[in-house]
Formats: sequence, structure tokens, C-alpha cells
Amino acid sequence: MTNIGAERFLPAEVSLSALREAARGCEGCELFRNATQTVFGEGDPSARYLLVGEQPGDQEDRTGAPFVGPAGRMLDRGLGEAGIERGAVYVTNAVKHFKFVLRGKRRIHQKPTAAEIDACRPWLDAEMRLVDPAVTIVLGATAARALLGPSFRVTRQRGVPVPRREGAFYVATIHPSAILRAPEPEDAYAGFLADLRTAAALGSATG
Ligand code: URA
Ligand code: SF4
Repeated sequence: MTNIGAERFLPAEVSLSALREAARGCEGCELFRNATQTVFGEGDPSARYLLVGEQPGDQEDRTGAPFVGPAGRMLDRGLGEAGIERGAVYVTNAVKHFKFVLRGKRRIHQKPTAAEIDACRPWLDAEMRLVDPAVTIVLGATAARALLGPSFRVTRQRGVPVPRREGAFYVATIHPSAILRAPEPEDAYAGFLADLRTAAALGSATG
């Protein structure tokens, strides 16, 4: 079975807790096979800010919660400095299972394919419908592909609000992991923070 998609695993009862429960059993693509568990979104169900990352990493896969590892700490720093409370947001990923290759004992992150992003999108779409945030913060190219389409370029279009519906916007920025890998991390962080501040300003003005 390859990439039949998550749609058939969605529950009839539409609430975040029903979705989360159903997502535990998703076999919509092959990624469920090697991962420890589904890492569903978490946070305030009526959040003004919904953040979308790529996929769980090693620590998220072990703990079952999104953005708890190094990228999560970078994200928390940015949110704090932009004046967005981590407790007041909903945080999720475009793909809900960790994709990796084994190198010895280490699990090395691999980018999800377009087909895997598409297979997983029904979960993200359902989360978006239920939380219906004023601002959706799109973290990196994978989340951008899921929400803004394959022609969106984060490098060129980051930090510019994209309308989602009346009074609600997307704001794309780089992925916090890209800051950790950047040749000049403080410069990369400054750009990330500027984008988060744009999102913060929109969220306090709209929705
Ligand atoms: N990177 C992501 O995109 N999401 C996580 O949850 C952790 C790391
Ligand atoms: Fe289902 Fe998404 Fe996991 Fe694939 S990655 S099995 S579509 S939850």
C-alpha cells in the first residue's frame, strides 16, 4: 500500500480530539511503518495563531508532541521575542510521521516527498478548519507546499501576508531548523523574528 492518502482514516465526528485519536491509526502512506507514533497537532483549539512545521523529528517521534526538540527551542525563542505566547498557539506539522534513514544507531531526518505531503494533507486541512486561526505561520518549504502550493517560494515570498479568507492570513517564514544549520545563524534568526513579528502584528489586528 503506497500513499492511498489519509482521507479514509478521518473520523465522522469532527473534533480535534476525535481527529487526534483517529490519526493514531493512519496508514495513508508508508511513513507509519517505521515511525514510533503519529505526532498530531497540539495546543489551544481556538488559537489566533496556528503554526505548521514539516514533520516530527527524532525527539517528537519519541515523545509524541510537536516541536519539543532543538527546532522547538528555536521556535519558542522566536515566539517569545515576537510576543506570541507558546501556550496560546496551536502547533502542528504538514506530515504527521517521522521520516528517517538509519545510520548506525542514529536516525537521520529525510525530507517528505510531495506524494507524502499530499497523502497527509487531510489531517492538516481538518485542523485548519477546526482551529480557523487569524494567522497561519508557515514554517519552511514543506508546510508551504502543503498550504500555499508547489509554486510558492519561501525565500522570495516569506514575511508577506497571503490572504486565506476574509480577516485571516498565512505568513511564511524559514523553518527553525534552517537557522540551526545556517552559516550565519544570528542573521537567519533575525529574518525569522522579523517574519514572526509581522505575524504577531496581524494576529493582534485581525481575526
Ligand atoms: N521540525 C518540524 O518541522 N516539526 C517538528 O515538530 C519538529 C521539528
Ligand atoms: Fe498517515 Fe500522514 Fe502518517 Fe502518512 S504521514 S501514515 S498520511 S499520518
